[in-house]
Amino acid sequence: MISAENGESYEKEKWVSHYSSNHQVMLVGEGDFSFSEFDILVKKYKNAISNLENLEKLGACLLHDVDATKMKHHTDLANRKFDRIIFNFPHAGFHGKEDNPHMIRMHRNLVQGFFRSARGMLRANGEIHVNHKTNTPFSLWNPKKLASGFSLALIQRVDFNVEDYPGYHNK
Ligand SMILES: C[S@@+](CC[C@H](N)C(=O)[O-])C[C@H]1O[C@@H](n2cnc3c(N)ncnc32)[C@H](O)[C@@H]1O
Repeated sequence: MISAENGESYEKEKWVSHYSSNHQVMLVGEGDFSFSEFDILVKKYKNAISNLENLEKLGACLLHDVDATKMKHHTDLANRKFDRIIFNFPHAGFHGKEDNPHMIRMHRNLVQGFFRSARGMLRANGEIHVNHKTNTPFSLWNPKKLASGFSLALIQRVDFNVEDYPGYHNK
């Protein structure tokens, strides 16, 4: 906490990798704590409870069972806008081999639906971040092309360095 000369106090802005403490950030499709029914979630991911508790202490708003392709219609998200909307490693589930065209279509539909929904939830200069594997067959999803269908332009590709996010476990 910093005190200004006028006596008001404010938090000093902090940056972690691409994210500022001043950003309104929304994460979707979180393996450790979202989308699934709560009890399934807790059975599936043993760290989910402590992660949820920590996030709540930090003032995060936690919503479960939110479909990333329909989130703009969610009552708790209506009229909310974000600086960053992040979907780390989207995946539509295991319904066949990853190189099966049907699976690739399912994954692409998920990412496309996410872009469609997230598009209208950005603040001015807002960004959508998708972390994604770039080897085949994952490269066949072609997220850049999916995004362009909603007039979303690729600004930058960056490597995902897991060490930038201590405590993060990809699910
Ligand atoms: C490979 S996991 C990645 C989980 C987490 N983001 C991470 O980085 O560890 C893919 C996630 O996408 C979620 N997912 C799949 N379809 C979704 C949808 N329509 N809306 C929201 N999440 C979805 C799954 O529940 C799963 O948690």
